[in-house]
Amino acid sequence: MTLSEKIQNKSVKAAVIGLGYVGLPLAVTLGKAGVAVVGYDVNKSRVATLNKGESHIYAVSNEDLSVLIGQQKFTATFNINDLADCDVIMICVPTPLDQHREPDLSYIADSARALRNVLRPEQLIVLESTTYPGTTKEVLERLLSKNGLKAGQDYYLAFAPEREDPGNKSFALKSIPKVVGADDPQSLENAVNFYRLFLDEVVPVSSAHTAEAVKLTENIFRSVNIALVNELKVIYDAMGIDIWEVIEAAKTKPFGYMPFYPGPGLGGHCIPIDPFYLSYRARAFDLPTRFIELAGEINTNMPNYVIQKLIDALDIHKKISLSSANILIIGVAYKKNVNDMRESPAIDIMSKLRKRGAQFNYHDPHVPVLEHMDHHKELEGLRSCDLTADTLKGYDAILIITDHDNIDFPSIAESCDLIVDTRNVLPSNLTNSHTKIIRA
Ligand SMILES: NC(=O)c1ccc[n+]([C@@H]2O[C@H](COP(=O)([O-])OP(=O)(O)OC[C@H]3O[C@@H](n4cnc5c(N)ncnc54)[C@H](O)[C@@H]3O)[C@@H](O)[C@H]2O)c1
Repeated sequence: MTLSEKIQNKSVKAAVIGLGYVGLPLAVTLGKAGVAVVGYDVNKSRVATLNKGESHIYAVSNEDLSVLIGQQKFTATFNINDLADCDVIMICVPTPLDQHREPDLSYIADSARALRNVLRPEQLIVLESTTYPGTTKEVLERLLSKNGLKAGQDYYLAFAPEREDPGNKSFALKSIPKVVGADDPQSLENAVNFYRLFLDEVVPVSSAHTAEAVKLTENIFRSVNIALVNELKVIYDAMGIDIWEVIEAAKTKPFGYMPFYPGPGLGGHCIPIDPFYLSYRARAFDLPTRFIELAGEINTNMPNYVIQKLIDALDIHKKISLSSANILIIGVAYKKNVNDMRESPAIDIMSKLRKRGAQFNYHDPHVPVLEHMDHHKELEGLRSCDLTADTLKGYDAILIITDHDNIDFPSIAESCDLIVDTRNVLPSNLTNSHTKIIRA
């Protein structure tokens, strides 16, 4: 039976390579739609816990996972040969920057080398990892073609970027339109029809390059606009104007404006990293990426701005220096309602506080302990502390970095007298007038 017939009668078997924030929810969404999925990951302990029905991703409940395992719609493996009978294989592995801040495609290359062992005619391979235009053809196809099979003739190849937004309860994976691009009509048709099996809307584009560019464009748009409001925040603060009030009023305009919000800096595996994939690629065309560089510079400097606001607040309101202060940081995950610490601005802030001799603790209900801090071993093992009215009184200042919904910020404000708020979780004119709120 051809792949297109299997897709049509829904007898297709799928595989997901990389069972992280992107791959696991994708596998579960497929399983719930009735498509049997094999999840492949090189992390053996992750494979073992997943097969016991234990999820490490907030968006996937243990219950959902266990039901799918019971129905034989999901199984995890670290043996690539278990993917041999899979008809569609989606690659969802990391695409970080290396130590020179250049694209690290080693995870994609490793996946391609492993895939060569099971690649066969009438199979569809889809790259979902975010990357620069040209990767699917020049890296993935080149490595896969080493076993003699040709994309578009023997097997099918497409790029379909993941748009998952962890922690965002307004959009389930199923309802987020899926962009799909491929370099030949058969690959595109098969990929589009496959995604239509389990997603509400599929948006085909003319090539894998175009689909790769779509994803980067979305994330560059976010990075540049966040940098813009971060710069405006600094300027308006000097003028005594509240950026948050400005945004609330500006967003009442029904056209030509879209709100972005300032913060302590960028975090996560996407926005601080993806734009530099395009910068790297543009260098090969001798073209500068000035917006990307400038946005990166402004956003990267935000933790320094926050620390300076903290230093000023301690000086003006407590008459003490940072090095003699005891600070409580609230929220260390890179954004609200997730446990993801990757690239979190809190890491940079904590590291700088430590270098300057400040005492600090942190509280984050989603991050009980700081694990595997590869570039910040000095922070590894720190644990989230409990909050009580008594312990709160022991701090010279509270620094709010992440605005998780399950933190009671107004109660915290009742038990301390100086708060530096990077997320606008507290009104600047609290009725409890002895507490000073500084926006940063
Ligand atoms: N996290 C997000 O919010 C998000 C959103 C959209 C797109 N993306 C993109 O999706 C991709 C994956 O990101 P993520 O956040 O899911 O990463 P992740 O680190 O959460 O998960 C990646 C998984 O891949 C596994 N892995 C690594 N090398 C492997 C290999 N050679 N073979 C099999 N498994 C391997 C890891 O063990 C891990 O379980 C990245 O390109 C990222 O930019 C992420």
